[in-house]
Amino acid sequence: MSLHLSENNYSKYIQHKLFKAVAQAAAELKQPAYVIGGFVRDLILERPSKDIDFVTLGQGIELAEKTAEILKVKTVSTFKTYGTAMFKYQEFELEFVGARKESYTRNSRKPIVEDGTLIDDQNRRDFTINAMAISLNENDFGALVDPFNGLQDIEQKRIQTPLDPDITFSDDPLRMFRAIRFACQLGFTITQPCLDSIAKNKERMEILSMERVSTELNKIILCDVPSVGFKLLYDTGLLRLFFPELTALQGVEFRNGLGHKDNFYHTLQVLDNICPNTDDLWLRWSAILHDIAKAPTKRFSSTLGWTFHGHEDKGAKMVPKIFKRLKLPLDKKMKYVQKLVALHLRPIALTNEQATDSAIRRLLFDAGEDLEDLLTLCRADITSKNDKKVKRFLSNYDIVEKRIIEVEEKDRIRTWQPPISGEEIMAAFDLKPCREVGDIKNAIKEAMLDGKIENDRDAAWEFMIQLGTQFGLTPASN
Ligand code: CTP
Repeated sequence: MSLHLSENNYSKYIQHKLFKAVAQAAAELKQPAYVIGGFVRDLILERPSKDIDFVTLGQGIELAEKTAEILKVKTVSTFKTYGTAMFKYQEFELEFVGARKESYTRNSRKPIVEDGTLIDDQNRRDFTINAMAISLNENDFGALVDPFNGLQDIEQKRIQTPLDPDITFSDDPLRMFRAIRFACQLGFTITQPCLDSIAKNKERMEILSMERVSTELNKIILCDVPSVGFKLLYDTGLLRLFFPELTALQGVEFRNGLGHKDNFYHTLQVLDNICPNTDDLWLRWSAILHDIAKAPTKRFSSTLGWTFHGHEDKGAKMVPKIFKRLKLPLDKKMKYVQKLVALHLRPIALTNEQATDSAIRRLLFDAGEDLEDLLTLCRADITSKNDKKVKRFLSNYDIVEKRIIEVEEKDRIRTWQPPISGEEIMAAFDLKPCREVGDIKNAIKEAMLDGKIENDRDAAWEFMIQLGTQFGLTPASN
């Protein structure tokens, strides 16, 4: 099918100077050229996109160089082994490649490549919606070349492969994750044969690098409703292969007529709940991991029913192993997720009216600058279906938040730094480094958190002298 884009009112987009330049270069070199892939999809979906792929029946590098000359772009990066070239123009990144025919071996995502026709090139692509091309040639400039009815699939919001899905997914298993990511990002449905094929070929993910998988997973997590993607990952069996701790949360067990909630679906609900309130990937990761240790800590007792004691601490301990396996950063981002997982039960304890200022000070001290994020997580953690309860829980957090602000204004705990350093303690009592120095430092912090002394240096100094005397130390004479 060849459909003229002007009928759909998209031609204005490829009136941009850069498309005219590629067309001129293609005409001069006498090698047909097309815009292809994700850019065409996004153009039709009216999603802004800055990466533009061009395919040509000839040498991609030559077309890139000629186009750059026309656009007066000086730097072109060429990759001779792959026959590709790219350069930046304004806010766009242009990539050029010769049309290819690909064949895959069983053990690698890297195909054996030969020159091919446009249809060979479209055949090798992942989904019909990603296989459309727009002609940049004189005789039909702006025509959509859509051999697999990608346009119709866009209209029907459908994801399917141009070829037999078993071939497309087995050739490049990353496409299983891409299918799910696109479904989640675009609100499309994956056709049943494709879903069946993902379930059948899931083990092929073993040839993928975990970085690639996590890149797709993070894109799912950054969607408006990530649970859609996670449910597809779960239903196809992919999730269990790389994230068994999460799938272990699925299911409800009953004993003595007592059940607990399904912690997998609860977690997904928390993740969806947090999304309107944050675009931060790592806060969203904390939602995914906040209850991760509920499977290993689950116990039943006839008196208490189901319990998950210590799941917040064990969960925090599980974070590094999970981040390591998923090749996520092991730096301060991981520490942040660990901290929120460890602290996620603390604010709820403060919703109780008797919560003391001291308990609030301790939370301020432990959460520091991440306290707002912790409260965002706690609010998302309310998944009751009873609207009245939800309102009550949320207003309880509003009260806690107000008290936190009051205590913080009074005591400035959040940016707290020890008011007296170890060196000063040693000098004050004429001590060499020893355990008592640490004990005194810690006791000053505890006294301040308990509200026994004000949060200032003079109060801390006086307290230190008293404490040292109790320890049998003599203040140095000057
Ligand atoms: N492609 C493919 N198989 C892959 C990756 C990409 O067939 N595993 C093809 C698709 O035609 C895709 C094009 O290469 O449209 C460009 O890929 P890429 O830039 O990675 O993705 P986009 O589809 O543009 O989408 P996004 O930028 O959201 O990843």
